[in-house]
Amino acid sequence: MSKGPVIEKAAELGFCLGVRRAIDTIERTAQEVAAAETLGPIVHNQQVTERLAGLGISIAPDVSAVQCDTVVVSSHGVSPQVVAEIEARGLRMVDTTCPFVRRVQLAARRLADAGFSIVIYGDEAHPEINGVLGWAQGKGIAALELPQFTRPPRRVGILSQTTQSFPGFLRFVSEFSHAYLEDILELRVLNTICDATLKRQQAALELARRADLVIVVGSRHSANTRRLAELCTATGVETHHIERAEDIDPSWLIGRHHIGVTAGASTPDEVIDQVIATLKETSPQ
Ligand code: F3S
Repeated sequence: MSKGPVIEKAAELGFCLGVRRAIDTIERTAQEVAAAETLGPIVHNQQVTERLAGLGISIAPDVSAVQCDTVVVSSHGVSPQVVAEIEARGLRMVDTTCPFVRRVQLAARRLADAGFSIVIYGDEAHPEINGVLGWAQGKGIAALELPQFTRPPRRVGILSQTTQSFPGFLRFVSEFSHAYLEDILELRVLNTICDATLKRQQAALELARRADLVIVVGSRHSANTRRLAELCTATGVETHHIERAEDIDPSWLIGRHHIGVTAGASTPDEVIDQVIATLKETSPQ
């Protein structure tokens, strides 16, 4: 009797503590006020954004565009300058900054106060990094590749965006040390990748080593989901990053024995369940 492939979920996947907390807070806010706006998407996931829109929660690109009395800061956090703008406009602020992002913000502030220049291993276009640079009080830069200095600063603190890959951070710190440590008086390195990201990355890697196909589920705008796809691809296993069950191409499933499924920290459980159901239905038996 023929049977289909094993379909296995990663031991850790999907919504993290920070995203669950942010969504719970915003749902409570939706019960208290008729309408509110989030500064940018609350998390990088379209299904979540659409569901919140149904509860009267819309998205404003920045503080000047906010029309409601209540503004929600996303799990990615904002700079102190943005908080000051919200206060200056007299808006009510609901803050869902993830505690792990807060840790990076406070580390940046402490290092800046202690006279360090701050180098953040991260994507400067990402809202989390935008916020952290504000906390660094003009003494920070963000980079994913080795930054170039004509004269390196005397004291440097290296931090990471919460959702970067740990192997990538290690490589960055090592390249930075090789290039500049000789000229630097003091170098402090803080591993600020969040626990949820580390656990999802470890679980995805373990699964990728056993599976012959990996499906990574989550928004293309989600940094941590993209990172999972990159890590799995790097193991050599065929990997596809999809946003929803409809994106599965049945030809991927032919001849597979073991299909691994993982998902980013902003991917809702329903979407993961739909993907698994579709894989079961579509896999050749
Ligand atoms: Fe927070 Fe990490 Fe999730 S920073 S929002 S726990 S991915």
